[in-house]
Amino acid sequence: MKKITHAVIPVAGFGTRMLPLSKSVPKELLPLGNRPAIHYVVEEAIAAGIKHIVLVGHAQKSAIENYFDINAELDSQLRTKCKEQLADSLNWLPDDVTVSMIRQGKALGLGHAVLAARPIIGEHDFAVLLPDVVLDPFTGDMAADNLAFMIDAFAEDNHSQILVDKVADEDVHKYGIAKLNEAFSEVNREDDKANINASFKVAGFIEKPNLADAPSKLAVVGRYVFSNHIFDYLANTKASVGGEIQLTDAIDALISEYGVNVTTMRGYSYDAGDMRSYMQAFIYFAEQQLAEDE
Ligand code: G1P
Repeated sequence: MKKITHAVIPVAGFGTRMLPLSKSVPKELLPLGNRPAIHYVVEEAIAAGIKHIVLVGHAQKSAIENYFDINAELDSQLRTKCKEQLADSLNWLPDDVTVSMIRQGKALGLGHAVLAARPIIGEHDFAVLLPDVVLDPFTGDMAADNLAFMIDAFAEDNHSQILVDKVADEDVHKYGIAKLNEAFSEVNREDDKANINASFKVAGFIEKPNLADAPSKLAVVGRYVFSNHIFDYLANTKASVGGEIQLTDAIDALISEYGVNVTTMRGYSYDAGDMRSYMQAFIYFAEQQLAEDE
């Protein structure tokens, strides 16, 4: 079975919605409980079988790269002080996993950021994880199971997979929204939080529509599995919404020639890129970890 082992995590955003917290600390390193938000996203990727992670950032984001590297001085100081366990806990990244960073250059949007990873990803098919979105890691393997499901579904028919979840009316304008091929009885999240993943073909996406123009309530969550062809479409995508090269536009082009599926999400996601939901997520993560410590 064809396995996806490469993933791109774009970390080039300035995090304007998270100011002043993000003024000198990359928003991806802001804490959710006792770890930086991106820690959970990388753990999710690894649990789904990813071995090569490419962070796409810029000069102000090098602290993220350092977080995934060994701090030799700190390591030796902790070991000298017999804090072996603490030192080991900092070196949690498995030996067969690499995290590298490439710079985006110009800030031309999400599509442009994904394309910037092409020199490292090469000919591989790959996953994309947007680090603003953190899937609830306190529900067993459920978070990583979403990406693992998408990777398996891609292996079956080569259809790129895009994770979607039903959102409330007032949140529709914040997301890419799926246009469905046929009437699909949308997953009722209130009734069944632990529903199963389902994958089916999608007609297209509309980036951040008004509620009145939204073709459904199924929003792009920020987890993708792409066939390598997406790079060719990204290379030909012109700037659109917000003057940026939108990933959503390249996906629409991909749909017209190759199949693209949506996968419905299991479990819960938290938006760590918006101050209000970040604060709610922080409280949730902290409460879970405090309960674990008791
Ligand atoms: C991006 C995508 C959007 C997706 C969202 C998920 O938007 O363009 O389709 O729904 O992430 O968080 P952003 O939040 O970067 O503006």
